[in-house]
Amino acid sequence: MKTKVFVAKSIPLEVKEYLGQYCDYRIWDSEEAVPRELLMEEVRDIDGLLATSSDKIDEELLRKAPRLKVVSNIAVGYNNFNLEAMKARKVIGTNTPFVLDETVADLVFGLILSSARRICELDRYVKEGKWLKRIDESLFGLDVHHTTLGIIGMGRIGEKIAQRAKLGFSMDVLYYNRTRKSEVENSLGIEYSEMDELLKKADFVVLMTPLTPQTKKMIGERELNLMKRTAIFINASRGETVDEGALLQALQEKKILAAALDVYEQEPVDTQSPLLQLSNVVMMPHIGSATAKTRFDMAMRGARNLVLALSGEVPPNLVEELK
Ligand code: GLV
Repeated sequence: MKTKVFVAKSIPLEVKEYLGQYCDYRIWDSEEAVPRELLMEEVRDIDGLLATSSDKIDEELLRKAPRLKVVSNIAVGYNNFNLEAMKARKVIGTNTPFVLDETVADLVFGLILSSARRICELDRYVKEGKWLKRIDESLFGLDVHHTTLGIIGMGRIGEKIAQRAKLGFSMDVLYYNRTRKSEVENSLGIEYSEMDELLKKADFVVLMTPLTPQTKKMIGERELNLMKRTAIFINASRGETVDEGALLQALQEKKILAAALDVYEQEPVDTQSPLLQLSNVVMMPHIGSATAKTRFDMAMRGARNLVLALSGEVPPNLVEELK
């Protein structure tokens, strides 16, 4: 008998065909997040769940899913896993690292460049017919090359950002991480810094850390106050790593120059959020890994992790804490 699986998001046809060879699956084939009540119903008789990082895997869900053996996230982040509860129930969890590293690093550079050179703002300026005379300094931006980049969270994506910064833009790169990465320091020529020093020195601060209880709201009023008035803040990790209210205030009061955000405390972002009114914020709809190729690779990797785990093998992307 084939194992039973629920897929909590749409996936490409080829990935469906692959899954279908090994499992009987039902799918939530929609771009809306799967409603919690439906997910709770669907997990009753399944062995495996192909999930997104917005599907909370907590005690309540695990209680409803007595047969569940594996949750495979189609995402690198797994802040939706209650790791303790999963460990206690011996449910394994996997994610999709590596395939998205370069793609997310590309977007982060897009965010750095668009905020420094005001690309989105000036695109609107031209399209709204405001370009009627020679440009003056009110439209000038900031250089990116030969400035200092501070990266908080030096995982694989952080490394790819650092590589772009050093090789492409001749930037000095400082990083802060829970553990020091001496090999990366040597191979890329980047420098470890304590967090406060990094915040004080960097022209661009990129937050690229996973969301954990320790990193929740790690950037708040105190940290924003340490940053230069000319600094630009970029968040491509998770919205909850930042105190969004404090960030809004810092931007409104020009305590920092600008921000570029791919993630928010609430997603989709509240359409009434005052952030939407600010010209010094570039906002993307949590799209860091979203190129057609990378999203395909992530879905296939997620499906493979799931199939391997259900056939009793150790999947390659078992998350660290559940090994
Ligand atoms: C995206 O945010 C991911 O975790 O893959």
